[in-house]
Amino acid sequence: MEPHRLARPDPIIRVDGIAYVVFEKPDLDRTARFCADFGLAPVSRTADALYLRAAGPAPFVYVARRAAAARFVGAGFRAARREDLDVLAAQPGASPVTRVDEPGGGERVTLTDLDGLRVDVVYGAAPVEPLPIRTAALPLNTPFTKPRMNAGQRPALHPAEVVRLGHLVLETTDFAGRAAWYMRHLGLIPTDVQCLRDGTPMLAFMRCDRGAAPADHHTVVVAGGARARYVHSAWEVLDLDEVGMGQQWLKAGGWRHAWGIGRHLLGSQIFDYWRDPEGFEIEHYADGDVFDAGHPTGYHPFDPKLLWIWGQDLPADFLPRPTPANLLGLAAQVVTGKLSLGHLRQLAAAAVAPARPWLGGARKDG
Ligand SMILES: [Fe+2]
Repeated sequence: MEPHRLARPDPIIRVDGIAYVVFEKPDLDRTARFCADFGLAPVSRTADALYLRAAGPAPFVYVARRAAAARFVGAGFRAARREDLDVLAAQPGASPVTRVDEPGGGERVTLTDLDGLRVDVVYGAAPVEPLPIRTAALPLNTPFTKPRMNAGQRPALHPAEVVRLGHLVLETTDFAGRAAWYMRHLGLIPTDVQCLRDGTPMLAFMRCDRGAAPADHHTVVVAGGARARYVHSAWEVLDLDEVGMGQQWLKAGGWRHAWGIGRHLLGSQIFDYWRDPEGFEIEHYADGDVFDAGHPTGYHPFDPKLLWIWGQDLPADFLPRPTPANLLGLAAQVVTGKLSLGHLRQLAAAAVAPARPWLGGARKDG
């Protein structure tokens, strides 16, 4: 496969990171219970809105507003400089710079992405005191060094100590347009891009341009698919044991496990996925890769087996299913010329490709 390189439009601004996600939820009490077990703590609560924080300095990281039906509304990103808000506000469709009447305050500009999601860019939110949590990874005995003697490995049983919001994954019916929109409006850099067999890019892991400072492998992922939707948000914890004990706590709470524990390939994170009360995917992760702005983009086949290198197999409900909504979404893309029949066949083939070919007898040297 010869990949078609993803064109990078000139950025309007370069954001520093993701700040929060916003949902509408029919039952804020149920959302608060799930999020407490997931590892997020309340900041403020009214009859109509719930604000939650993680253990890090962000004043809030998750907002749920009461509404008749559950819906992902959008996300907020941190501007690196105050003047970036003025630059963004001059863009077509952008809001003026407004004061934020939410925990932490500050100012923001609100945009709407090509799929109608709200994208806030915020500057000047006041940080809060981090919560007292474990900040050193557990000492590991190896065949060569034994830092732990006369002592067991007993991580505490409690909700995972989520430190911060790490990334957001979105599916869209217009991959090229939406990836370009996020690169242009937020200054994101494609870290790894997955392409169909004919080289057409169909998924991009994109990171913030933080110059020489480390940036997560991805802050936003845009994936071409059958319909526009939130796929998941991911939340960073300290280490493998925090992921594992967080899983124990959520299991004890009776919540719905989705996928994990495993290690991703692109991004390398140790992951564990859950479903919130309305079925939205949400991920704990630890030990993800970071890159500076100069690291070149990697190109890879569009292939589900590139999602993980070890761990439980990908559950069937993580792959696109032939539901009426999905079929309609794909048919509309073919009719409007956004997707060729050849691309459709390649997408379908990628969805059913066997995971990790070294399993199932492919490895003959044993
Ligand atoms: Fe993720």
